[in-house]
Amino acid sequence: MLTTLALVLSVLSFNAQAADAAKGQELYKACIQCHGADGMGVVEQEAPKIAGQFDWYIISSIKQFKAGVERKNPKMLPYIQGLSNSDIEDLAAYISAMK
Ligand code: HEC
Repeated sequence: MLTTLALVLSVLSFNAQAADAAKGQELYKACIQCHGADGMGVVEQEAPKIAGQFDWYIISSIKQFKAGVERKNPKMLPYIQGLSNSDIEDLAAYISAMK
């Protein structure tokens, strides 16, 4: 009984933290003009293909651009400045599942 309860609680708390790809899809609307609806990049924007990229790499790239120290991306900065860490994780979950 206690084990079941512990299991249920751990599943619940895992779900509460899991990235939400559906929310990521909403947030991704701001990225389409440069990275494309399919995430394949847009040559004229010099914006790279990001579809299917590992989620951890997407998260680390966006966080680095947001901080603007290790990597700078003045073009993209206005679109990511307002994102929370959980927004970034949701975006990564959506983008990394794009094919
Ligand atoms: C105004 C154009 C523009 C918008 C809008 C934009 N990006 Fe970018 N993005 C770029 C450019 C340009 C680069 C390449 C920068 C570089 O590495 O020098 C880039 C790079 C990236 C990278 C790193 C790719 C790699 O392989 O290192 C990720 C991840 C990314 N963008 C995600 C996003 C997400 C998510 C959004 C929406 C919240 C977004 N971008 C919105 C222009 C844009």
